[in-house]
Amino acid sequence: MKANVLFSPVNTDELYFTGKTAVVIDVLRASTTITSALLNGAKDVVPVATVEFAVKISGGMFGGQTLLGGERNTKKIEGFALGNSPLEYTKEIVEGKSIVFYSTNGSKAIVKAKFAGSMFICSFLNIKAVAKHLINIDDSVEILCAGKNGLFSLEDSVCAGRLVNEINKLNKDVMLSDSSRGAIALHKSFGKDIPSLLKETEHGKLLIKNGFEEDIEVCGNVDSANIIPYYTNNVLKAMS
Ligand code: MLT
Repeated sequence: MKANVLFSPVNTDELYFTGKTAVVIDVLRASTTITSALLNGAKDVVPVATVEFAVKISGGMFGGQTLLGGERNTKKIEGFALGNSPLEYTKEIVEGKSIVFYSTNGSKAIVKAKFAGSMFICSFLNIKAVAKHLINIDDSVEILCAGKNGLFSLEDSVCAGRLVNEINKLNKDVMLSDSSRGAIALHKSFGKDIPSLLKETEHGKLLIKNGFEEDIEVCGNVDSANIIPYYTNNVLKAMS
């Protein structure tokens, strides 16, 4: 088993993931929001790469059972029921619903990895659960950081490093690529206090400026969830 980290989606194309095991990370906030929605009983989350496609497919789905969620520039999109704050995805609102979900970086990274043989979503909420599952399936893994507008993001990279570190603790024979080793080093230097780290990142500061400071606390709630969103038939569902 080998673990490799891709610090941003730009240097890969969709075919790169064909048949592989992939993990997608977008700590602030897509992977945290998707995990929260499924934790609170959403039937599934349908990740899409454009707003237009979100609107198009939601029109063909059952009225009342589908919600449009996501953001542009961190804010709720006009006509959408929900933004990209994990706190909006409460049991009362999402239970039993399909959420068609668009976000600037996160949902696009998920769609990019759609040809993976298996795909899982990771955030700080479920690192231990994801690591344990990866060890059980014992296949090489590509860990894709959604990053920010095609660039590196510290929070996703530290989360990837913590995941690789956890995998390595569970199985010392896992081969680590150079990028995995680099990600572990980032986790060791920046990952001691996750909520503070998140507040200091570029995207964290933008979220605070736009009034989403509470979301950062949620996104920094390490190992609070035992579910793993997994991709099947174009939707994400909860595996526990
Ligand atoms: C994204 O996908 O870029 C993020 O989830 C943005 C956000 O914080 O809403």
